[in-house]
Amino acid sequence: MEKIVIEGGFPLSGTISIGGAKNSAVALIPAALLADGVSTIKNVPNITDRDALFDIVKLLNCDIKQDGNVINIDTTNLKNVLINQELSVKLRASYYFMGVLLSKYKHVEIYFPGGCNIGTRPIDIHLKGFKALGAKVTKRKHKYTIDASNLVGTEIKLDFASVGATINIMFAAVYATGRTIIKNAAKEVEIINIMDFLNKMGAKIEGAGTDTIIIDGVTKLHGTEIEVIPDRIEAGTYMLAGALLGNNLKVTGIIPEHNKALLNKFDEMGVNYKLEGNSIILNKCENLVATDVTTEVYPGFPTDLGQPMSVLLTQANGTSSMTETIWENRKGHYPYLQKMGANINLENQTAIIKGKTILKGTEINATDLRGGAALILAALIATGKTTIYEIDYILRGYENIINKLSDVGAKIHLEQI
Ligand code: UD1
Repeated sequence: MEKIVIEGGFPLSGTISIGGAKNSAVALIPAALLADGVSTIKNVPNITDRDALFDIVKLLNCDIKQDGNVINIDTTNLKNVLINQELSVKLRASYYFMGVLLSKYKHVEIYFPGGCNIGTRPIDIHLKGFKALGAKVTKRKHKYTIDASNLVGTEIKLDFASVGATINIMFAAVYATGRTIIKNAAKEVEIINIMDFLNKMGAKIEGAGTDTIIIDGVTKLHGTEIEVIPDRIEAGTYMLAGALLGNNLKVTGIIPEHNKALLNKFDEMGVNYKLEGNSIILNKCENLVATDVTTEVYPGFPTDLGQPMSVLLTQANGTSSMTETIWENRKGHYPYLQKMGANINLENQTAIIKGKTILKGTEINATDLRGGAALILAALIATGKTTIYEIDYILRGYENIINKLSDVGAKIHLEQI
């Protein structure tokens, strides 16, 4: 087991390159199983969620070849076997194998998915979609069996614009007979990346990135190539680091449009930044203005940046608020920020944050992926030494975070416990 040790207060200069989007990659890897033959996925981030998916792909008897961030998945010998609990609990995205295997084989057996503890995380909207297409879902304890004699396209209106359900229903519908229309679909940019991959395989999908996605079923999909889009959440996290500590910190490989909601808040707060094509250069600003942030579905302020953003709010002058509307439990990091000296009051889903406050180094625990990233940001600006435990959560979703930060001047390293 390891812990992260950070000596705070050092400015960040130089360049951080953004990797492929976790939330795209974790859907593209299962999606490769829809095609017959070999698919290539480029720019796959080196995160532990990727490795957990590889274990499931191997269990299903597919061959994976990896060369840095490029992976090839060969489905020639694919076997549709039970996905056991030990593998499926490692990450939430294991649920994508439900849509994929149901689509291809009309039968899937899988244990309930895992993931960060940020809410109850039901999958009822996914299952409703599968049922609308003609599937029968049986649940025994934690094991799901989903069968269909035939999947038939239909109109499915999602109760909530769920990212996972939108993608999973796209998977299930790709081999269905006729036309499926997903209404109130999630509009996150990662979904466009998934649609592009499926269309390059031979699928007929349009509308990803809007609230209506139309899928005309096909009978065959072939191997192809796709590149994972840049990770807008990783980008946002380092942009926040730049706003807190930048001394000409350059974050490259971003798509500014994907981070529009964060940039709008930067403008309101007076963050010192300059966009240059697919890069952004950030400098620390002493006089940040307090603001109110509410997380929303895309293109609103992303829930995955709410926790890191709350650290910037501790450094703004006056009273800010951070309201979380997507997940009920994205509050795990607040007690640790309080322990470090932040002035935060929690009122249901809203944190009232009074700034600016000096944060002091101490011993803290990552409670989830993005909460863990928030604590790293807090430790980077704190006086003295901070030790962060339970760091596995962070390594699930941030590629090479220790090196990326130490390369730009942060005093951060891993230590064995
Ligand atoms: C994805 C992202 C996650 C992000 C979230 C919202 C991945 C791997 N993860 O998660 O980082 O925080 O989108 O942007 O892409 N819900 C239901 N029933 C369902 C499905 C969802 O009630 O069947 C609820 C959830 O409890 C939550 C909300 O809908 O309150 C959003 O969930 P969803 O968009 O599905 O998130 P994920 O796809 O799991």
